[in-house]
Amino acid sequence: MLLQRLSAFILSSLFLALPASAQERSYSLRMEAVSLSLHHQNDGSLRYEVHYRDQPVVLPSPLGFTLAGGRELEKGFRIVGMDTSSYDQSWEPVWGEEQVIRDRHRQLTLRLLQEATGIRMDICFRVFAEGVAFRYVFPRQPALTYFVITAEKTGFRLTGDHTAFWIPGDYDTNEQPYTRSPLSKVDAWQSTMVSEGGREINVPDRYAVQTPLTMKTAAGLYLSLHEAALVDFPAMQLHVDREKYLLTANLVPDAIGNKAYLRTPALSPWRTILISDRAAGLLESRMILNLNEPSRIQNPAWIQPMKFAGVWWEMQTNKGSWNYTDHPDSSTADGRLIPNGRHSARTENVKRYIDFAAQSGIKGLLVEGWNTGWEAWYGNWYGRHFDFVTPYPDFDVQSIQAYAREKGVQMIMHNETSADAATYDQQMDTAFKFMNTYGYPAVKTGYVGRIIPRGEHHDGQWMINHYLRSIRKAAAHKVMIDIHEPVRPTGLHRTWPNFIASEAARGNEFNAFAEGSPPDHETILPFTRLLGGPMDYTPGIFKLRGYASADPGRQLKSTLAKQLALYVTLYSPLQMVADLPEHYAAHPDAFAFIREVPVDWQATRILEAEPGDYLTVARKQKGGEGWYVGAITDENSRVATVSLDYLDPGVTYAATIYADAASADWKANPEAYTINSCLVNHKSLLKIKIAPGGGAAISIRPATPEQVKDLKFYR
Ligand code: NOJ
Ligand code: CA
Repeated sequence: MLLQRLSAFILSSLFLALPASAQERSYSLRMEAVSLSLHHQNDGSLRYEVHYRDQPVVLPSPLGFTLAGGRELEKGFRIVGMDTSSYDQSWEPVWGEEQVIRDRHRQLTLRLLQEATGIRMDICFRVFAEGVAFRYVFPRQPALTYFVITAEKTGFRLTGDHTAFWIPGDYDTNEQPYTRSPLSKVDAWQSTMVSEGGREINVPDRYAVQTPLTMKTAAGLYLSLHEAALVDFPAMQLHVDREKYLLTANLVPDAIGNKAYLRTPALSPWRTILISDRAAGLLESRMILNLNEPSRIQNPAWIQPMKFAGVWWEMQTNKGSWNYTDHPDSSTADGRLIPNGRHSARTENVKRYIDFAAQSGIKGLLVEGWNTGWEAWYGNWYGRHFDFVTPYPDFDVQSIQAYAREKGVQMIMHNETSADAATYDQQMDTAFKFMNTYGYPAVKTGYVGRIIPRGEHHDGQWMINHYLRSIRKAAAHKVMIDIHEPVRPTGLHRTWPNFIASEAARGNEFNAFAEGSPPDHETILPFTRLLGGPMDYTPGIFKLRGYASADPGRQLKSTLAKQLALYVTLYSPLQMVADLPEHYAAHPDAFAFIREVPVDWQATRILEAEPGDYLTVARKQKGGEGWYVGAITDENSRVATVSLDYLDPGVTYAATIYADAASADWKANPEAYTINSCLVNHKSLLKIKIAPGGGAAISIRPATPEQVKDLKFYR
């Protein structure tokens, strides 16, 4: 035993054996405050355990799988090999929250042989300064070629009744509002909106939640459980044992209840545990990105972050329609469609938006409802509604393209599949060729409704593979892709930077067609959903009340200044400028911030952070000297403290502060804001009052000589 321990120690200084019982062997791996211990138990099973500053964070927890045929891959393992390595390199993302990302970790791979079956499985562990990740690897081998996973046994045994920010473990949507509760009170059925199909179909497990699952411990630690590099595998949800605080992987099933169909060599995604004693630490982490493969796109010059306007909010708020006629069968005796007179994607209306985008310096324009098929697209589980190449008679593709080109605006294609992914698979070639022919550099796809192939789920292995097929197909056609209603992201945009955003959460649109989201919603998203990748949230609504004709009393639970702040706090290289041109025209001074704010960053600083309460972020634009700050709060007013110590010490800057007016309040007075300009430097400390449900946005640029002369220093 001593010899074994000694040799394990000599094998690498990265890990050492811990004291263990006669047969049990343990290994550990550490990076700064984070340490991981592995225990090979008497029954040949493995347990992992995680500490942070020597305090337990994950108690010894199970690893393994069940395969079809009742084969258990969780014990009876012999360790037949072990590799360790350490890694420290930096890389540059095509776009992102900073220009250079450092990947520093230590790795330990245990090579396991299940003696009774002869099956080989490796588990690869990585320890970072901010967390732990591990994945299962099934090498090519005689004992295992084709296999079916029926359950994953990975567990996360937590140390207490942590406060969790969760949404229900729905197989088909991430668009539900978050609940903040102790783990012991998780109840997905309490929170689930009864959606199409019913809760019992989409959330069969009452105690299942989605990841990223972010938690705060009584001791003030912040944890987030998620996965990275979800490829050819179903999404992992977590089943919560509300008494033992044991969270167990719940893989989203296929139509007949199996989880994953694999062939060796095969890999699971990484299971990830982020840990920090500061909430900001979760947002500063790039662990999920670092666990994904480097970019597969050689010359990414065509991938360009952008803001975009849309013929969109007017349909969301029911001022216009996606559909050209009011009924699939409404045509004249000679077969011509009878227009309903409300169709938004009309050539002249689209040109009006092109003018707006061009005048505002907004690069892109999305047009929805341009193609035939919208009359009965939703709720029929029929599929085959759209062909993605046939415009409605009042949408003139060629003249719109010519007009957009002349004005320097890029048109964004829309392919709503109505969740008929099976048919979209067959149509993709034609659809992407159409985009190339007419010069669309980007597409927004969508999967509203129940999936076809029927019985599959949005988050199951079949759909995971479908989304990636669409991303790769888009890349082959040099098209950027923004997917709505997909699985939540897991950092795959590192590998496929043309995968420029996705929805996969409750977006601003819920404020248009439904009751909307509470004022703390945007203070939760960055700590949960956004940890996996950027979101197409569609910020920038200026008319916050009286916009929904169906419900005149409806209002966004936000101030106008908060809508500005979201461009900084909700990171995305693709940001919509979502409101109607006329609503921006009513506030040209505030709109100046949206025109100016960049979408790609050289550096990011998290200044103040508390999930569910507030967030203040500063970002430096890529290729420029400007800094932009966004500060938001929940339903409570607060004073944001904005340090500027990251500014260049030798430079005087001009800051323009867009803040809630003293009388502002999301409910009573949402559109009241102030705009003030002043001089600042790296020693300035700004104190900005934020209204209930409010926010503030600041642009900070090196001052011109005139500004130095005219403006006063901040005090
Ligand atoms: C839901 C998407 O989230 C929304 O943006 C889109 O307008 C509709 N589906 C129609 O495709
Ligand atoms: Ca949606």
